[in-house]
Amino acid sequence: MTSEPSSPPSTRPSRAGTPLHFKDVLLDALKRYKHEDESEAHQIYRQSAGHKARTLSFPRLSTLMKKLFRNPTPWFNRCHILFRPAQANGFNYASSHEWSNLGQGAPEVGPIPDAPDRPVKVEYDYDALEYAPTTGVKKLREAVAHLYNATYRQGKASQYTYENVCIVPGGRAGLSRVAAVIGDVYCSYQVPDYTAYDQMLSAFKRLVPVPTALEPENHYNLDIGQVKKDIRTQGLAVIIASNPRNPTGQVIRGNDLKELVDISRESATTVILDEFYSWYIYYENEKNIGKSISSAEYVDDVNKDSVVIVDGLTKNWRLPGWRICWVIGPKNLITALSQSGSFLDGGANHPLQLAAIPLLDPEHVHKEKVALQKHFKMKRDHVLKRLKAIGLEVKIPPVATFYIWLNLENLPDPINNGLTFFEELLKEKTIVIPGIFFDINPAHRRNLFSSPCHHFVRLSFGPPLEDLDQGIDAIARVLRKAKKEGMRSFGHSYKKSIEGPASLATHV
Ligand SMILES: Cc1ncc(COP(=O)(O)O)c(C=O)c1O
Repeated sequence: MTSEPSSPPSTRPSRAGTPLHFKDVLLDALKRYKHEDESEAHQIYRQSAGHKARTLSFPRLSTLMKKLFRNPTPWFNRCHILFRPAQANGFNYASSHEWSNLGQGAPEVGPIPDAPDRPVKVEYDYDALEYAPTTGVKKLREAVAHLYNATYRQGKASQYTYENVCIVPGGRAGLSRVAAVIGDVYCSYQVPDYTAYDQMLSAFKRLVPVPTALEPENHYNLDIGQVKKDIRTQGLAVIIASNPRNPTGQVIRGNDLKELVDISRESATTVILDEFYSWYIYYENEKNIGKSISSAEYVDDVNKDSVVIVDGLTKNWRLPGWRICWVIGPKNLITALSQSGSFLDGGANHPLQLAAIPLLDPEHVHKEKVALQKHFKMKRDHVLKRLKAIGLEVKIPPVATFYIWLNLENLPDPINNGLTFFEELLKEKTIVIPGIFFDINPAHRRNLFSSPCHHFVRLSFGPPLEDLDQGIDAIARVLRKAKKEGMRSFGHSYKKSIEGPASLATHV
């Protein structure tokens, strides 16, 4: 086993000692493997519904059936291909305490030091048994607008009102509502990014996906100059990005974020920013603790700048089960979202919308942010330190979110690819997410080995510290086994999915 060299993240020494560029490393991998057919882990991935190479799907179906099932890749299939192998290896919810789920795309939900009490009781009267409006309860919409004005827009002439806010039943519902009202345009997205954009861009065909690869040389930052050029030359009408970014843990902020917002004003491009991790920012300087980041700070006129913000209680408030989220944008967009919501999801849970109102009080929010940033920074630092100690130094550590984008390329073949690493960890009762899941590839056309995410896994430090330690112990065992026994036992003998209804799904 080789440990990571001390050269910059984009390079590693070749056998001859001269630095190899990241692209060379990929080419090298391609040369060695030739094709995904040679990898058992990739075969399992391909065999799951919706992940067959597109040209092979449904060869004998009639044209009508082909049309109906043109995109047989609903979101749950992606989740199931992770959890079915986990099930095959003995994972179930009764035994889940024996497992470490570093794949978990959710923060721990229990008490953390110095945070306000967790909301565990909800009281409501008969009115709350009615449907809520599809744009949400007016008082909650007002509370969201007030929070954004108080946090990001003090002293600005243009302020958000409830008419700029639509309450939605979860972030994905919000993204779907937005996608449903945008039509026939080129939509720019980046690789790697949040997995659900893959399904969104597959399902809503009027958004024509245009990918951009984020480079490790650039610390996975978005090159705003290039975006401007692409808008001019390719006619991009929509840009979507998670910011802070899942899975890289990087963030567009300061002048870059301002320039991105300016784009929405200066060109006819709508900027959709998925800000679910806007509180998960890790400051080195203590005096910044409690500050969050949002494009709302740089919007000029809230009804003219075409900036759409999606956020909610899922991550920042650590309430993923509440399904209370929001979309913020110009008034006319919110009116359109009311219409798409009435057929897509019917609106968010009424009692929990009412219960959410006090949680949006700026003072309450400040206490939550301070506690969260301290606790999650402690967990991040702990995990990074432990990974380094076992020879997995993270060269581009997360400055935001609760994810680590772990580069495996210096490990020996075959555990240097995310799918094999994932399968080997299942044997140790630990779940991580193979990097390939974040390669937004709406039509599933590419050979999986040519993915820039191939040598990565995403580790989540969302779970409590004990679970994280348990997971890192498992990673250490796999690496020790590799050192002791060589690669003989790796890359094969995986338990495939068990039969029966897919009852386990997760949120990546
Ligand atoms: C970037 C990003 N946006 C949105 C969501 C999903 O939010 P929700 O669970 O509310 O649908 C996630 C969840 O993992 C996420 O990572």
